[in-house]
Amino acid sequence: MQITYDKFSINLESDRGKREIIEFLREKKFEFTSKDEKRILLRLRSQTRRMGLKSYSELLSSLKTDPKLFESVLQWLEKGRAIHEEDKTFIPLIRRKKTLKDFSTAPSTAKKKKRKPLVVLPPEFESSLNTPTDEKNLTLIYDLLSSRDINYQAYKQNHFLRRLHARMKRVNKNTYKGYYNLLLNSSTEFKLLMDNFSINVTRFFRDHELFMVLGKEIFPRIIDRKNTFRVWSAGCAIGPEPYSIAILLDELRSRTTFLKPYILATDINQGLLQQAIKGIYSDKSLEELDNSKITKYFSPISDSDLYQLSSRIRNMVTFKQHDLRTSPPGRDFDIILCRNVLIYFSRPQSEIFFKQFYSALKPDGYLVLGRCEVLPQSIKHKFEIIDTRNRIYKKKPI
Ligand SMILES: C[S@@+](CC[C@H](N)C(=O)[O-])C[C@H]1O[C@@H](n2cnc3c(N)ncnc32)[C@H](O)[C@@H]1O
Repeated sequence: MQITYDKFSINLESDRGKREIIEFLREKKFEFTSKDEKRILLRLRSQTRRMGLKSYSELLSSLKTDPKLFESVLQWLEKGRAIHEEDKTFIPLIRRKKTLKDFSTAPSTAKKKKRKPLVVLPPEFESSLNTPTDEKNLTLIYDLLSSRDINYQAYKQNHFLRRLHARMKRVNKNTYKGYYNLLLNSSTEFKLLMDNFSINVTRFFRDHELFMVLGKEIFPRIIDRKNTFRVWSAGCAIGPEPYSIAILLDELRSRTTFLKPYILATDINQGLLQQAIKGIYSDKSLEELDNSKITKYFSPISDSDLYQLSSRIRNMVTFKQHDLRTSPPGRDFDIILCRNVLIYFSRPQSEIFFKQFYSALKPDGYLVLGRCEVLPQSIKHKFEIIDTRNRIYKKKPI
């Protein structure tokens, strides 16, 4: 059965407040695409929260009366969004038009500022452009990894090299030979390189619409037919994904009182798991959550932009270190989420993962992938497509 979406709209706040603040920015001669409007509103919403305000309208009044605040908010919007999230390559969300003299509230210093480049490459990304010249010595690094049982071939080659170059740049090594010598002698550098391969961008309700579909369509189906609820979040990073599942289940509590859900969250990176257990997040991680959920499930940590997730929700998730390249950490899952992890792996390696997910699912269990990930042809026939857009698949019984 396919799912339709019209009923799920992200209503963060009243449409009027949103419209007014967007119109205000346009009136003040700023340019942005209609596609970026939603992102701008999300950023403004974090600003609203940070200032302890309750609505866009209140923020708008402050922006109108406080030029300094206005300038700092604009600079934040100008800083932009990541076009390649994992590499943190930014383009501005908003641009000042040349007719800036019309803009009465901006302080005069802003006019003299040098125009910022449209795309700012952070050092980490630039490093990937400066390929070391001693390419033949790259095999030294490959051999060293193999000798320590690191299956580097599992990763896509451009991902592997980008992360390797980033580390080399960080420790001022321009040649593979120089970096190889360092790796041989420093277990710390070896560990840092390993951690660098795992990219950990994540946030609560990432791809909000997917979580709406899970909460309204998929979870009730699982609840109705079973007396267990077993979830595996594979590659969970610092935890927002499994915790979002726990929040959804908590919201369905009236229907789940008889269930004892088991939410297993795994990642290869122990450091990330330790952070996950603490459950402390910046407001950027909460960008896709509506205010009512933030108030209900998080407590602000004073004098910071941080929030801690309630212990009730934290206690619903079991974290465990696990490498996807080994056998699954459990069986009989009703649903497996492996999102934004497989994109970094080669096709043959991903195919092995899919076979393992298939065997770890119950006969009619669900598999959820990231927005940029698809089932390989070789395994497609084993799953029914439930939702193409949100990448939800259901295991076909054998
Ligand atoms: C981009 S994050 C995805 C987080 C979350 N699933 C989401 O979509 O928001 C990718 C995660 O995969 C983990 N990872 C990478 N290689 C892995 C492996 N071989 N086994 C388990 N986890 C791995 C990384 O440590 C990282 O935390």
